[in-house]
Amino acid sequence: MPVITSIADLKRIYRRRVPKMFYDYAESGSWTEQTFRENTTDFERIRLRQRVAVDMTGRSTAGQMIGQDVAMPVALAPVGLTGMQCADGEIKAARAAEAFGVPFALSTMSINSIEEVAAATKKPFWFQLYTMKDTDYTARLIRRARDAGCSALVITLDLQILGQRHKDLKNGLSAPPKLTPATIANLMTKWSWGIEMLGAKRRDFGNIVGHVEGVSDTSQLGAWTAEQFDPSLDWGKVARLMEQWGGKVILKGILDAEDARKAAELGADAIVVSNHGGRQLDGALSSIRVLPSILDAVGDKVEVHLDSGIRSGQDVLKALAMGAKGTYIGRAFVYGLGAMGQKGVETALEVIRKELDITMALCGEKDVAHLGRHNLLVPEDFEGRWQG
Ligand code: GLV
Repeated sequence: MPVITSIADLKRIYRRRVPKMFYDYAESGSWTEQTFRENTTDFERIRLRQRVAVDMTGRSTAGQMIGQDVAMPVALAPVGLTGMQCADGEIKAARAAEAFGVPFALSTMSINSIEEVAAATKKPFWFQLYTMKDTDYTARLIRRARDAGCSALVITLDLQILGQRHKDLKNGLSAPPKLTPATIANLMTKWSWGIEMLGAKRRDFGNIVGHVEGVSDTSQLGAWTAEQFDPSLDWGKVARLMEQWGGKVILKGILDAEDARKAAELGADAIVVSNHGGRQLDGALSSIRVLPSILDAVGDKVEVHLDSGIRSGQDVLKALAMGAKGTYIGRAFVYGLGAMGQKGVETALEVIRKELDITMALCGEKDVAHLGRHNLLVPEDFEGRWQG
């Protein structure tokens, strides 16, 4: 067994084990991938302020997200097709999150269904909602999440239409994979993935297949989103969805102070500053770069979380010190899952926790709640100066 010391180690194993189609799906941004790249390079631009001779005993990474206790403020982000990265991937990731004490958010576009994940876990998880033209189906999804005991609804606002990711189109991404000569050739080199997948509870979109009628092709994310997602979603509809749900709501995909104000006015419990991992509007700014302007606008009115670009505990620390109250990892846990299943997700979380803890100590801090701008060296031009 190799010694895993970083998320990059997990990514190397993941790349070897998982079919190219699903590796590419996770590892893509839209169009030129500028935003996808800058999500990580902008974290690198922020530097840390070392402090010495500070008592570092009794450190804690524990905190709260939307009033729920967390072992560290790092949730597992909703990621579509997680159950294609590893057999029963959503169940394994949810179990890892539960064992570790962090929230798990299940995607509408998951492979394991809401009910399957609920049956395999003890603690409530969060459900991420995409809104569909078929309002009955959306209402049923909300009801299913409630019946499964989900403790928050994460409504995604930045994907009424799918950003174009070249590789997915070229690979003919689908769940389950369609057996073309190129796919078969690649699958022949991925034996352990394939054998596990044969025993999986599911190989199609569990929240969709069997729950909707009259759909031409439920196996292709691109076709499904183009046909079914509601392009008319607006703030009025968001308010109605929040009412329908009646519980805690996290609005995900905010990248602009104006939008953040609207989300806060609606009474969201939290917003997620996110560009969808660079997968939607290419050319948008990185999440970490827009975070300060959003905190200025609504930091005292709503809990502000951040995703997109976090690959280490140091990134988590930077986001928290910039003012976010919580963070999410997507790719970083998918690498672990694809590499080693549930154990790999637990390893990813442990790698991140350790990095966060040691960095905190070397910055002279004992508690994640005390992190702040005083821990960071942020370049003067970090937020950029834009006309208009
Ligand atoms: C869906 O959420 C995607 O980004 O592919």
